[in-house]
Amino acid sequence: MDKDLLSMADLTGVEVMVLIERAVEMKKEGKSRALEGKSLALVFELPSLRTRASFDIGMRQLGGHCVYLSPQEIGLGTREPVSDVARVLSRYADGIVARTRRHQTVVDLARYATAPVINGLSDGEHPCQVLADLLTMYEHKGELKGLNIAYVGDGNNMAASLSLGAMLVGANLVMGTPESYLLPVEMVKKIEKLAAESGSTFSVQTQPSNAVTGADVVYTDVWTSMGQEAESERRRRDFAGYQVDTELISRADGDAIFMHPLPAHRGEEVADEAMEHRQSVVFDQAENRLHAQKAVLERLLGRA
Ligand code: CP
Ligand code: NVA
Repeated sequence: MDKDLLSMADLTGVEVMVLIERAVEMKKEGKSRALEGKSLALVFELPSLRTRASFDIGMRQLGGHCVYLSPQEIGLGTREPVSDVARVLSRYADGIVARTRRHQTVVDLARYATAPVINGLSDGEHPCQVLADLLTMYEHKGELKGLNIAYVGDGNNMAASLSLGAMLVGANLVMGTPESYLLPVEMVKKIEKLAAESGSTFSVQTQPSNAVTGADVVYTDVWTSMGQEAESERRRRDFAGYQVDTELISRADGDAIFMHPLPAHRGEEVADEAMEHRQSVVFDQAENRLHAQKAVLERLLGRA
């Protein structure tokens, strides 16, 4: 990781493990003065509960603070160009977290900002979520290397970041995804390159039951991501049969954990019973956003 965290591919496998180990320590430590007096700008084009709250509270726990800027206030790319927003915010803040509709917007922000830019979700990736997810797997399973992860559902931002993250740490990932919702070809190339380097495997099954057989982790995400609301009816039809329920979880390893980044659309990608399942760790994931991001903030903002 250089100046920014835009993609899981900005990290090496060693860097991911260092961040996870540091997050484990910070989870025990609680509050510190590591970022005393530092400011973080939160630029959000889309709604958020976890990302906004965990960055805001995380910064305060480190002695710093956040300034939240809503889409109406900034008009990113409409009221003024992304490049100007990036340069202005860099004059005030020590870091920027951006949640953008298009991945290119967060890339452009990082290009023009002198302050570090952290991707708080784009249509391409969600690296902060995946760092929290890998921390959660590490806590529950003890080891990431060799872990078998089954991702059931849409080939979206979560699927991309989770697959990259899994390959970086030596875990294996099987997607259970309908043919027309696979990850973009360029992303699959990146994932396969990392797999070849770490010895992990990445594969695709069109039947969810085949994807989850023997898995240590069953992971799903919404069928309709933010910004895709107009497609929700078609997506509900296309993903029928891909819902994670108790029956699907029972096909995985007996000690498998069930994961979801939230917000969940209960009754679509996940049955209520799966959310409330004794093997569900969805709220540990949500909590770990705080700890994993504090490790990222300390690393990116704590230098000067
Ligand atoms: N998982 C996640 O990013 O949640 P929010 O959209 O609420 O931030
Ligand atoms: N794929 C989802 C993830 C939400 C955390 C979305 O982009 O809306």
